[in-house]
Amino acid sequence: MTARISILGGPNLDRLGVREPSLYGSVSWKELEVLCREWAADLGFVIDFRQTNGEGDLVGMIQAARESCAGLILNAAAYTHTSVAVRDAVLTLDIPVIELHLTNPAAREEFRRRNFLADVVTASIAGFGPRGYRLALEGMAALLERKAGS
Ligand code: DQA
Repeated sequence: MTARISILGGPNLDRLGVREPSLYGSVSWKELEVLCREWAADLGFVIDFRQTNGEGDLVGMIQAARESCAGLILNAAAYTHTSVAVRDAVLTLDIPVIELHLTNPAAREEFRRRNFLADVVTASIAGFGPRGYRLALEGMAALLERKAGS
């Protein structure tokens, strides 16, 4: 059966393409979805690709991945640095979770070094721009193969 992967985006990622393009580039969230669907299909995945600006909504979407998906790729955006609720939602899951950032938060402002997710996710990818989603999908394939083999 084709594995379903949840790809979730947090606040302001709906503004990709217009938001600080020197940092985040020119690819919009919608364009990123098209790319992710192609990359996922190459790897034999189908994806649920969703974004929300709300913390509670993001918590609900993370929780829902437990029932419907084999893995989660999560760019929690600013909630990475602020949200115990998002961290706790990740801890409800027993599927691989890859934390993803388009930029490298560790190389930016001091407040972005605070990270409520880094120690509760399976793996992290940061600083590759949209291409990071391709890397995350490839990484997810490896994690799921490893899980199936163990
Ligand atoms: C981000 C990095 C976060 O620090 C920031 O708040 C974002 C986007 C990224 O993808 O680089 O909104 O998660």
